[in-house]
Amino acid sequence: MNNTKFTGRCLSVINDLSIDEQMYLYRKTKELKDATINGKNTDQFVVNDKNIGAYLVFLESSTRTKESFVNAIKFHNVKTNIFDAVHSSFNKKESYADTFKMLTTYSKYSIFIVRSKLEGVTRWLECSLSQLSTRLNLPMPSIINAGDGKHEHPTQEILDEYTFLEKNNFDNSNIHIALVGDLYHGRTIHSKTDGLKVFKNVTVDLIAPSKIAMPKYYKDKMKQNGFKVAEYDSIEEYLKQKNIANIWYFTRLQLERMGEDDLKNANVFAKSISYRDDFSDKIPKGTKFYHPLPRNNEYPTIPFSIDNTILNGYDEQAMNGYYTRTVLISMFGGMLGDDFKGKHPKITEHSSDFIEEIKTMNKVKPEYKIGTKPVIDGIVIDHIGKGGTIETIWEQIHNIRKILNLNIVSSHGVYQSHKDGKYKGVLSLPDLMQFEELQMKKLSAIAPESTLNIIKNSVVQKKFKIHMPPRIYDFQDISCKNPNCISHPDHHENTLKEFHKTIDNKFICKYCDKVHTFKEIWDI
Ligand code: CP
Repeated sequence: MNNTKFTGRCLSVINDLSIDEQMYLYRKTKELKDATINGKNTDQFVVNDKNIGAYLVFLESSTRTKESFVNAIKFHNVKTNIFDAVHSSFNKKESYADTFKMLTTYSKYSIFIVRSKLEGVTRWLECSLSQLSTRLNLPMPSIINAGDGKHEHPTQEILDEYTFLEKNNFDNSNIHIALVGDLYHGRTIHSKTDGLKVFKNVTVDLIAPSKIAMPKYYKDKMKQNGFKVAEYDSIEEYLKQKNIANIWYFTRLQLERMGEDDLKNANVFAKSISYRDDFSDKIPKGTKFYHPLPRNNEYPTIPFSIDNTILNGYDEQAMNGYYTRTVLISMFGGMLGDDFKGKHPKITEHSSDFIEEIKTMNKVKPEYKIGTKPVIDGIVIDHIGKGGTIETIWEQIHNIRKILNLNIVSSHGVYQSHKDGKYKGVLSLPDLMQFEELQMKKLSAIAPESTLNIIKNSVVQKKFKIHMPPRIYDFQDISCKNPNCISHPDHHENTLKEFHKTIDNKFICKYCDKVHTFKEIWDI
């Protein structure tokens, strides 16, 4: 098998492929589609290697994604395995990691295609299978997310973007798109946040009632990506203004993911997001409608009357699923990629500059005390939780002691700063002269913006400002609060918990992208 920059890759979210890589995939898809339609030779795409096992693991129902992958795998003449989830040892509470570790050992190289109700499964498999591959000296398998809960659907995103490019004659300078439907639960919508970046100028109109509107995290990310974003409650409201998109992307109400309250309102929601024939004189010439499908036949957001009109772009869109997924397997199977030129995804490096050493005024005697006694030698952690409530500061002091295991002679308290009147916590640790870097990193995750003073002979020798770290991970007392996330404690997957800081100082779960405040990630 040919090893390339694409073999052993994980496509958990669309951003796992760089823009250059996505454009490469779209160019190759055009070549394959043209060659197929014109009856030309397509051998250069075929992986043709029975040592490669493609495993379809569908733990949630599917027609298009599953069947287009089945056909793609047949095209490639690789070993095809369709996992029988219903009769598998998942019923005996076997974990995802254990299941996939075993499947990895059945082929020289595996490509896993995984659909799950739980979110972040493929990201977790990337971690657990890379450890297995290293340990057993096996090639890292490729892992493809075929839709995970309400999180993302990157291969649908690929076929959608290919379809939009095709509509634009492969001109990627501009797109104006209306996203209509259940934007809250729709994973194909969430993948648009990054997938649309293949276009240089993006205008997005979001059309949904507020209860099923686009989550703030994705909306903010669209804006950070430079998209122009507008919001409307219903199609009727959208059509009252003049700047109407010529690409409409509908989704169905995701009834299976809704709570009882939302389900009661399904009729009302459907009215706001369903197209009506009498809207037709208000939409621009050349408009096309798209839909990831399936279409719910009780609440069809695109009425059946549209099917045989020029508005119908969804039938060709569904067909593109076969071509784009076939090319993806060519890339992940090592058949395509040698001629790729461009950038691969950036590897995120987590800097450690959140621990900042501050100059000290050596001659100044510190005011820190243990009880009534000044600290002569030792460590004082100051400014804990400054500006918070007395209650939250006590909580942080308690967490520092518990997590850093500081069960030594010491004292602590909550005080009012004499400079600005704000409350802050102080923890005095006399005779403790060592505070390792790892401990400081942990402190930054528990009590960001505190200061750590190392005192010798009543003089502050060193002072560190401990800022909020770019990620918080591997603590026992943190967990994702999304009950559908693979890393949620209820699923017993033994995942390493990891959160990444956003530009507005929130923390997103590495697996499912759920946004948490700093306080929310902690269980204590
Ligand atoms: N669009 C899509 O994912 O369809 P299926 O659920 O039928 O695979």
